[in-house]
Amino acid sequence: MAILKILQYPDERLHTVAVPVVQVTDKIRSLIQNMAETMYAAPGIGLAATQVDVHQRIIVIDTSETHDQLLVLINPEIIASHGVSDYEEGCLSVPGIYGKVKRAEAVTVKALNAEGESFVLDANGLLAICIQHEMDHLVGKVFVEYWSQLKQMRTLAKLKKKQRSIM
Ligand code: NI
Repeated sequence: MAILKILQYPDERLHTVAVPVVQVTDKIRSLIQNMAETMYAAPGIGLAATQVDVHQRIIVIDTSETHDQLLVLINPEIIASHGVSDYEEGCLSVPGIYGKVKRAEAVTVKALNAEGESFVLDANGLLAICIQHEMDHLVGKVFVEYWSQLKQMRTLAKLKKKQRSIM
């Protein structure tokens, strides 16, 4: 297993639209293992392949308190959603920045697991938010891009300042 490099906003590659996985091979399973390891090490509760510069529709999520409930979603599709919530979100590609995004409160998602088997999952609360956040990454959207231009500019300035202080 290996820890992968996570692209940092505003890296243009985060705007790439991922393609569906054609077949769940050992190569895909090994990528999933590395993505999970990278997510747990960060630590984070979700990671999309886009964030590690692999542009295929793959997501790993673990919102459990025990960090032992790995959820793998390959080619996820939201087939139903309801309600509205605005949860404070963060992102491993936008470290140190948190803010609210309006999303569905509950979603039903259809996907393939790491064995390539199709399943349907009803999710609400944090898990539903996380699924929607990660699925946005697969279409090249970062959560801060829901905010006003002004707030996005302030976020970029804050990130730049932070990067300077690291160097
Ligand atoms: Ni994210």
